[in-house]
Amino acid sequence: MYDWQIPLTYLLSSVLFIFSIRSLSSPKTAVVGNLLGMIGMSVAVLITLFSPYMQDKQLPLLVIISGAIIGIYTALKVKMTALPQMIAALNGLGGLAAVFISFSELITGSSAFLEITLGMVIGAIAFSGSLIAFAKLQGILPSRALTFKYQHVFNFILISFCIYLALCFLSQREFFFFYLLSGLALILGIMIVLPIGGADMPVVISLLNSYSGWAAVGIGFSIGNVLLIIVGSLVGASGAILSYIMVKAMNRSLLNVLLGGFGSTQDHNTSTPTSQNAKSGSPQDAAFIMENARKIIIVPGYGMAVSQAQHVLQKMAEDLRSLYDVEVKFAIHPVAGRMPGHMNVLLAEANVDYANVYGLEEINHEFADTDVAYVIGANDITNPQAKNDPSSPLYGMPILDVAKAKTIFFVKRSLSTGYAGTDNPLFYAPNTIMLYGDAKKITEEIVRYLEKNKGSALQSL
Ligand code: TAP
Repeated sequence: MYDWQIPLTYLLSSVLFIFSIRSLSSPKTAVVGNLLGMIGMSVAVLITLFSPYMQDKQLPLLVIISGAIIGIYTALKVKMTALPQMIAALNGLGGLAAVFISFSELITGSSAFLEITLGMVIGAIAFSGSLIAFAKLQGILPSRALTFKYQHVFNFILISFCIYLALCFLSQREFFFFYLLSGLALILGIMIVLPIGGADMPVVISLLNSYSGWAAVGIGFSIGNVLLIIVGSLVGASGAILSYIMVKAMNRSLLNVLLGGFGSTQDHNTSTPTSQNAKSGSPQDAAFIMENARKIIIVPGYGMAVSQAQHVLQKMAEDLRSLYDVEVKFAIHPVAGRMPGHMNVLLAEANVDYANVYGLEEINHEFADTDVAYVIGANDITNPQAKNDPSSPLYGMPILDVAKAKTIFFVKRSLSTGYAGTDNPLFYAPNTIMLYGDAKKITEEIVRYLEKNKGSALQSL
């Protein structure tokens, strides 16, 4: 193997990773983006494996094959709704890898002490923090914010002590400080994620993803691996940007998310109200109103993902267009669902034409001119409290203005709250009709009536 082959291959992998991230920015090109990333990673792993630095090839090969088998099996088995916890687990593994490499570098006599320390601390925080995030999302731990008195003071002391130990290690080179620091960094990761409530978990996961990237950068510098530095920077920067986009879309600040409390038990209208009356209707009523409408906007949310209603929803939109000549559009809120782009991915999976899918700012002015807003499994992203109730946890978040439509259908199983844990006054509005039931089943019923009604209308001609 020539000297130039490894740097050139690393450069090729880096370019593939950059194009991969670029392509992931749109559902249309996301599959290609994934493929580019896979090719980039395979090239990087193979060239490293067959490089002269790798003397023993059997053990790494065994580890890579076992990892690949576990990875493929898990990815095939995981349900769409469990993707956030899978990402949390994968971030954690990235952090753990950084911790292991730091230790091995230290033990084998590396002199890049600063880089090793940074890689280890960030990796340890990413690892233990991700474990807690996984446990919360998987229901092993309560998903609400877990807080205790003087938590912020405790965390401040912990962070200060970590900085002190890092300085002691860097100045005295005593391994004892490094070991103690690794233990405290693990505790810090736990303490950072515990007070963060369920609704903020996607932000935290994206932030932990960013940490695991920066940990890789630290390790890349300590072992002099340029590819690790580039890839780590890509992961670190994209995770940080994603976290920023999410908090902006929720009208929060990152500090506000990290200090926790949102999603903890709130005393703000958290219970299901019984004093007010919400009108309910049947799928047959909904089909009748929709087939006589001129324009309908569909607003999908987390419940659509849970019931996997996207395919039948696309069928309903197609039937309304082709059988009744209704204009049908889809409106996507930036934080609908539980992951960034959650709804876009599901609608793309159901072959919804992207020309009919609109973002919040593009479509909000159209609700006033809309006959029906079909809100399916969505709640918080339509809640008017976000505009007019300063005491609401949603206050300040931009919402989809479905209230302005002539008729609003809410497809959900009950009047219960969404992830923010707060009641939605729109359920009791005079122009709202609740369609109680599973999103997929209700929409299937509507499709059945739409097709049946058209059939009987044609027969009577
Ligand atoms: P939510 O406000 O959580 O509402 C989802 C609704 O779906 C629930 O009220 C639930 O009501 C209903 N539902 C659940 N399963 C259903 C099923 N099988 N059939 C029909 N309905 C079902 O969701 P949203 O409107 O999408 O808002 C997203 C929330 O997540 C926001 O609070 C947002 O801030 C938060 N969040 C999102 C992100 C990202 S990146 N997406 C990041 C951080 C936070 P029932 O139980 O009555 O059925």
